[in-house]
Amino acid sequence: MKVIVVGKHDFAGKLSTEIEGAIFIEIDERIFPDGEVCPRLLLDNQNPIENSHVIIATQLGFDQPINQYLVSLLLTIYNVKRHGATKVTCIMPYHIYSRQDRETRLGEPFSSKYLASMLETAGMDEYVTINSHSYGKNPLSDFFSESRSISLSAIPLIARAVKMTSNSSEDILCFSPDEGALMLAKEAAEAIDSPFYGAIRKRRDPKTGKISQEMIGIDISLENRHILIVDDLVSSGGTMVGAARIFKQQGAKEVYLGYIHGVHTVEKFEKLKKEDIQIFVTTNSIKQEIPGLTTVSVVKLIADWINSNLS
Ligand code: R5P
Repeated sequence: MKVIVVGKHDFAGKLSTEIEGAIFIEIDERIFPDGEVCPRLLLDNQNPIENSHVIIATQLGFDQPINQYLVSLLLTIYNVKRHGATKVTCIMPYHIYSRQDRETRLGEPFSSKYLASMLETAGMDEYVTINSHSYGKNPLSDFFSESRSISLSAIPLIARAVKMTSNSSEDILCFSPDEGALMLAKEAAEAIDSPFYGAIRKRRDPKTGKISQEMIGIDISLENRHILIVDDLVSSGGTMVGAARIFKQQGAKEVYLGYIHGVHTVEKFEKLKKEDIQIFVTTNSIKQEIPGLTTVSVVKLIADWINSNLS
């Protein structure tokens, strides 16, 4: 089947060059003064979309509110279907609305489920993301009941980039800043042949909402060690900073942070940089260029998966 990649030039355009035989169709996005978005497919007179597999690739950034991306994506799915696409795959490296993957407090929306349902209703057949927050107890497939969904892992890319940047022959011990992300620490350790991985325990006081972190069950000395802390996302930076301080208090020589999604503003990152942390690595799942932050691209990872799953 003919393959067409649709999206903005910098991300979707790059992705299209990595997918076998793919054609690229750019989206021209117009925003009306009230915030309404109009994503137009830049088509010529012929209709290349008919009977094709369309891959819509979106990369979030801080240049637009997240809900504008969402509406733009929904309109584009519906639009390519209307133009005769046979199959629609959505690539959203940062899986939005994934934090709310259950009703944690009475009356809260089950946002992850509703997001999936909106994409499916618009006509999506397949969803590809990078390290969705919904793992473990709530896999993606629980939300996407009518379409195929896959969360690829960029943890090995992050861990290898940290190792290369550190340029040290010392072992790098891998940790997660909470128990939920322990599997990410394990994956990072495997990717760089690290001899140890573990997690810090993070607790939220149900009354005050205050978060505390402590080291538990780590019975090796961290004195003079090189530590990599991995997590799926950094937003306020509080979780990573709390963990980094614990390792420094334990005598760690260097602390590195590796996280998949940099959901932080430049200002938040500047605060992180003031901590005693030597290396910061993230992916380009969210578009941003910040001095001091190394960014690894997920384009090849996604393209490899698409190429090996083309029908
Ligand atoms: C929590 O479950 C996530 O994996 C992250 O640890 C958390 O969302 C990070 O948020 P922040 O940077 O605001 O502490």
